[in-house]
Amino acid sequence: MPVSDVVAAPAVDQVAAPVHVAVIMDGNGRWAAARGLPRGEGHRRGVAALRQAVRSAGELGVKVLTIYSFSAENWSRPATEIDDLMALVKRFVRDDLQELHRAGVRVRVIGDRTGLDSEIFGLISEAEALTRANDKLTFVVAFNYGGRQEIARAARRLAEQAAAGELDPASIGTATLEQYLDTVGLPDPDLVIRTSGEQRLSNFLLWQAAYAEFVFLPIYWPDFDRAAFEQAIDEFHRRERRFGGLKARTGS
Ligand code: IPE
Ligand code: IPE
Ligand code: MG
Repeated sequence: MPVSDVVAAPAVDQVAAPVHVAVIMDGNGRWAAARGLPRGEGHRRGVAALRQAVRSAGELGVKVLTIYSFSAENWSRPATEIDDLMALVKRFVRDDLQELHRAGVRVRVIGDRTGLDSEIFGLISEAEALTRANDKLTFVVAFNYGGRQEIARAARRLAEQAAAGELDPASIGTATLEQYLDTVGLPDPDLVIRTSGEQRLSNFLLWQAAYAEFVFLPIYWPDFDRAAFEQAIDEFHRRERRFGGLKARTGS
């Protein structure tokens, strides 16, 4: 019997479409280096890929798109690169906010806001306030974000409430802690995509990605386009999600 007859066809119907896709946009620097360009040029091209990714997410029926734009650990990069990245963040909000708003996109920013440059803090607040009532796509920007720091901040707030006698420590469970995470109210990511070939989380959504599917693409972020997005979603549809249970069986 040919192998094709004994290998079961992949089931196509048991995985629901991903509601929340989270993306680790990695490889801007290597994209630039491969072309003999400065790293900043890679970041600029990365913003163009991001614009396209937001548009594609809406078209592909994704309801929440989270992007890792700057990690808590990225401050360890050289000052010139940080200046480049901050300038791009500011320009992105200034240039794109109105269009995102017109497209029905709600912007939400996760990460630590204490100590941020006041201009960036203002732009983040403006973007969130302007788009608060939109519901076509929720665009979550992880900025100055670290998963461990986020969990530690949540734990600190729970401890403060307990110390003030407002919270019984015995009542604290996963659902309680989730109320104090930056992502409160958002569904967990179904799919986490990382470009550049690296296969690690780099402190991204540690709590929320507990049962996410991971797709690692061998392309640098500036080359991420609609076709790459579709490829990642196709791969997601070939996965079998179990959440600790058993595979749903059909037939005998
Ligand atoms: C991702 O690209 C963008 C940010 C981390 C802000 P990198 O800058 O990490 O590019 P590589 O990984 O060095 O190629
Ligand atoms: C993760 O990429 C952070 C962002 C994409 C913003 P990094 O390039 O900082 O991750 P590592 O250092 O390779 O793990
Ligand atoms: Mg990197």
